[in-house]
Amino acid sequence: MREEPVPPPRRTAVLISGRGTNLEALLREKQAGKLPAADIALVFSNNPAAKGLDFARQHRVPTAAVDHRDYRKEREGHERAILEVLKQHRIEIVVLAGYMRILTPVLVGAFAGRMLNIHPSLLPAFPGVRAQEQAWEYGVRVSGCTVHFVNEEMDGGPVILQRTVPVHPGDGPDRLAARILREEHKALPLALDLLTRGRLRLRGRRVDILRGNSSYPLLERELPTCLPLLIATGNQNKAEEIEGMLEGLPLSVYTTGELSDEGPGEVREDAPDYEGNARLKAGAWQKASGKWTLADDSGLEVDALSGRPGVHSNRYAPTTEERNRKLLAELADVPEEKRTARFVCSVVLRGPRGKEHTARGTCEGRIAFEPSGEGGFGYDPVFLPDGYDGASLAALGAEIKNRISHRARAIEALRPALERICSP
Ligand code: GAR
Repeated sequence: MREEPVPPPRRTAVLISGRGTNLEALLREKQAGKLPAADIALVFSNNPAAKGLDFARQHRVPTAAVDHRDYRKEREGHERAILEVLKQHRIEIVVLAGYMRILTPVLVGAFAGRMLNIHPSLLPAFPGVRAQEQAWEYGVRVSGCTVHFVNEEMDGGPVILQRTVPVHPGDGPDRLAARILREEHKALPLALDLLTRGRLRLRGRRVDILRGNSSYPLLERELPTCLPLLIATGNQNKAEEIEGMLEGLPLSVYTTGELSDEGPGEVREDAPDYEGNARLKAGAWQKASGKWTLADDSGLEVDALSGRPGVHSNRYAPTTEERNRKLLAELADVPEEKRTARFVCSVVLRGPRGKEHTARGTCEGRIAFEPSGEGGFGYDPVFLPDGYDGASLAALGAEIKNRISHRARAIEALRPALERICSP
């Protein structure tokens, strides 16, 4: 049986050290029904006298405190005690909302990808304490706030979102801080909403914000969102090639390897033509994953073989080497001028509710007498595209191949449709 996709985390602890206006903003939004997927299950402080704890109690949210002064310089011991409390409350997400302690790997490691922090500057400018004062003294013209995932660097984790404010000449640090705080109260609930709806995807240092519903449509207009797109191929080379061709589009690309838990299992590719096979793959994976899905099918048509191996190119022989050897053997007596051939590729882009776009691309050339070139894959070493002085597709390098190949041309033809589905 297929496993169900893992649901996004929801049970949230908000960690505070002082007055807790960001906590207030979160609880207010929760009460207004604006954080439907987040469950604020605990408010925690390192300071048992923190004003925010009273506020939480008034809102009937469970509270806890572990005083850091009881641990002197034992930061890790303090965090292990905190971790214990978080475990008791089955916490999945930690939000640092004015939590003024430097964290160690004990807590950070336990919540990797599930710990958010709000900071009152446009990071990486002005990390650390008194960020608003630092910004004022430095003389910047704009400042703002940042919500980021927490990693082991202080205020250095992947940025989720930022909101900016102008710095006016008469401000002084206090007025600037107040202006920034108003934006913090918008940014933090929005970030928590995105995380608990499964709309954040961490890719190295970058965070993709996936398109979807949220409670903050007006705030979201300022966010650079991405459309999740699944490339339905088990062939990693192909997936990487296609991902490269999609550059510049606001997409967050997934491969079937990453979504194997959500996959449809084995997909039969027994249609009579490329488009039919691409449609079978795109349809099955779209249905299983719910995401816009791009699938291709391609083949090599050799004129001297009446278009074979064509739609059966992948099944012409068991391995790539055997396929190329078999092809050269079949063509052993065919002279150069009769070795004309073309790569053909059909792509199908399938979306929710059966929306579909298709495109086709070809690359004309000849079959070589022997393989050459180190790049590419499949039949590339024996295919000599027209106009490149007898160099094989495998010898031309990725930059040229990804401009002239059948797949590149099919994707190029699909680009207007991709641009349309990407535009909000
Ligand atoms: C906020 O301005 C928050 O950004 C900042 O502390 C303040 C807490 O206010 N956090 C940091 O500087 C973390 N480096 P609050 O208690 O009223 O939410």
